[in-house]
Amino acid sequence: MCGIVGYIGKRQAAPVILDGLERLEYRGYDSAGIAVQHEGAIQVAKATGRLEALYHLTRGGTTLLGTSGIGHTRWATHGVPNDVNAHPHTNEHGTIAVVQNGIIENYIALRERLKSKGYTFVSETDTEVVAHLLDYYYQGDARKAIIQVLQHIEGSYALGIQFADQPEAIFGVRKGCPLIIGLGDGETFMASDVTAVLKHTRRVMYPGELEIAELGTEGVQLFTTDEEPVTREVSEVAWDISAAEKGGYEHFMLKEMMEQPKVVRDTLSPHIRDGRIEIEELKISDEDLARVNRVFFVACGSAYHTGVTAKYIFESLARLRVETDLASEFIYRDPLLDKDDLVVVISQSGETADTKEALKMAREAGCRVLAIVNVVGSSIAREADFVMYTMAGPEIAVATTKAYSAQLIDLYLLAMKFASARGYLHGRKLKSMMEDLAKLPEQIELMLNSREKIQRIANRFIAARDVFFIGRGIDYAISLEGSLKLKEISYIHSEAYAAGELKHGTIALLEEGSLVAAVSTQPSLHAKLLSNIKEVKARGAVVLGVTTMGNREIEQESDFCVTLPETNPLFANSLAIIPLQMLAYYIAVGRGCDVDKPRNLAKSVTVE
Ligand code: AGP
Repeated sequence: MCGIVGYIGKRQAAPVILDGLERLEYRGYDSAGIAVQHEGAIQVAKATGRLEALYHLTRGGTTLLGTSGIGHTRWATHGVPNDVNAHPHTNEHGTIAVVQNGIIENYIALRERLKSKGYTFVSETDTEVVAHLLDYYYQGDARKAIIQVLQHIEGSYALGIQFADQPEAIFGVRKGCPLIIGLGDGETFMASDVTAVLKHTRRVMYPGELEIAELGTEGVQLFTTDEEPVTREVSEVAWDISAAEKGGYEHFMLKEMMEQPKVVRDTLSPHIRDGRIEIEELKISDEDLARVNRVFFVACGSAYHTGVTAKYIFESLARLRVETDLASEFIYRDPLLDKDDLVVVISQSGETADTKEALKMAREAGCRVLAIVNVVGSSIAREADFVMYTMAGPEIAVATTKAYSAQLIDLYLLAMKFASARGYLHGRKLKSMMEDLAKLPEQIELMLNSREKIQRIANRFIAARDVFFIGRGIDYAISLEGSLKLKEISYIHSEAYAAGELKHGTIALLEEGSLVAAVSTQPSLHAKLLSNIKEVKARGAVVLGVTTMGNREIEQESDFCVTLPETNPLFANSLAIIPLQMLAYYIAVGRGCDVDKPRNLAKSVTVE
C-alpha cells in the first residue's frame, strides 16, 4: 500500500515530508520520492529501496528548498521498483507533480490518447498519466484542471498534486483510498493516515469521496467537482505519536503483542454497562436483531480468521445461521444475499480493496452492513451502515496481533448481543460469560509473561521447513491464524488443517521431525485431538500442544505443551493465539527476518 504525505507551511517542507514518510514505512514500499516547490519551480528527488536512500540523496531533505511539497512511498503495482517509476511523477516541463496511492484502471487508454496528442512517457506507471492529463487541462486554474482530470480517470485512488506556479497551495483528492488532512498552526498536512501527521497535530479532517482539498498555510478548503464548497468536521485524534513508536521494544510486533491486554480492556469496556452488553453503534433494536436470520462475515487474512471463529460462536451461542467468506471469494461467487441478512465486514485498516468491494456488493443487495474496523475515518468505516471500532490504536507491524485480538472481542460482544436478543443468553449463563470476558486481559498478560518458554521452543524450530497447525472447531480457526503468523513473518511454509481432515491426504506430507502444533481448547473435542496427536506422532511428527490447563493427557502426549488459563471455550482463541503469535515472532527473529516489514507484504492491500 503506497503512502502519501503533503505539507505546506512556514517550515522547510522536505524534512517534514521525509519524517512523515518514515511513519508510513509500515505500509510496505519499495521506493520513495519527494517534490518541493521553490521560486516557481518544482524540485524532485526519488530513490529505489528504503527511505535511507532518499534521506542520503537529499541530505535529510535539506538540499530541497521550499515550504510546500508532496512525498510518496511506493508499493509497486504497475512497473518495477526503480527511480523512474518512483513517485512523484511530473509533466514534461516539470511544472506539475503528482503522487498516488491506488490504481487508475483506465490508464492504458488514457496513455494512448495522450500519446496521440504528442505526449511522451518515461515510466511504466499509471500515475504518470495523471501528471500529463493535468498538463493537458491546466490553463492556470488548478481546481478546474483537477476537476477535468477526475472526470476522465477511473479507479480507486488518492492523489497529491502540486503546481509550480501555485506556491500558495497543494492539492489532494481521494476516491476509494484514504487521505486525511492535518491542521496545524500556520501549516497544513495531508497524508494517507494520521500516523504521518500526529507529531505535528491531532486535529484531522477526513475529506469525502471526490472532494478536492486545497491546502494552504492557513488551513484547507474542500470543494466538490462542481466547485461547491464543502465543510467537514475537524476531529481530535485520541492517541498520540508515542502510540505509533516502538517504545523501547525491538520490533513494533512485539510491542503490539504486549499491548494486547490493554487493547482487549479498551475494546471491552465501552460495551459493558451495569452487567449488560451495550453496542450503541449497532443501531438495530433487539426486536430487529431477533429478526436477522443470517449473518455473513466477510474479510481477508487474519480478519477472515476472526470471522471463522465468529461462525462457531454465533451458531453455538445464538443459534444463528452464519456464512463466513474470504472477501476475494465473496465478491465473485454471486452470493445469495437477502435484505434481512446482516453482513459484517472486518478490517483492521478499513482500506482492504476486496473487503471494500464486498461491502459495496452487500449494500447494493439491500443488506445492512456492520464494519468492525480499527482505523477511524477509513473508507470501510465511512461506507458501512454501522461501525464497531476496535480500540487497538495504530498497528504498525504488518502482521496483525493486537487488532486481531480486539476484533475477537467485538465479535464475542456481538454474538452475546444476538444471543440475548434471541433469548438464548440471560441470567447465570450471561453473568458467567461476562465474568470470563472481564478476566481475558489479565489472562492474556499471563500468557505474555511466559514468553520465555515459547522462545525456547521457537529456537528449536528456526530451521523448520514445513509446519502444520491442526485443530477442530474454534481450534481450527486458531490454527488458521497461527499458521498465517508463522508464514508471513518467518517465511516458513505452513498449513492449518482441520484435524479431522488430516487423514484424508495431507498426513502423507508428515516426515520424521515435522512440527505439528495441535490446538485443543474445546473440552468436547479433547479426546478427538488426542487421537490426532497420536496419529501424527506415529508418523514421526514432533507435537507442540496448546491446550487448557489440567488437560493432562494432551500435555503428556505432546513433546512440548503450552497450557492456557481456564476460560469459556468460546473465548479460547483470545488466549491460544498468544503463544502462537510468540512462536512465529521468535522463529522469525531467530531467522533474521524483517519482522515488522516482511518481504512482499503491505499493511493493507488496497488493490484487488
Ligand atoms: C495479517 O497479519 C496480515 N497482515 C493480513 O492477512 C491482513 O489481516 C489482511 O490483509 C486484512 O487486512 P485488514 O484487516 O486491514 O483488512
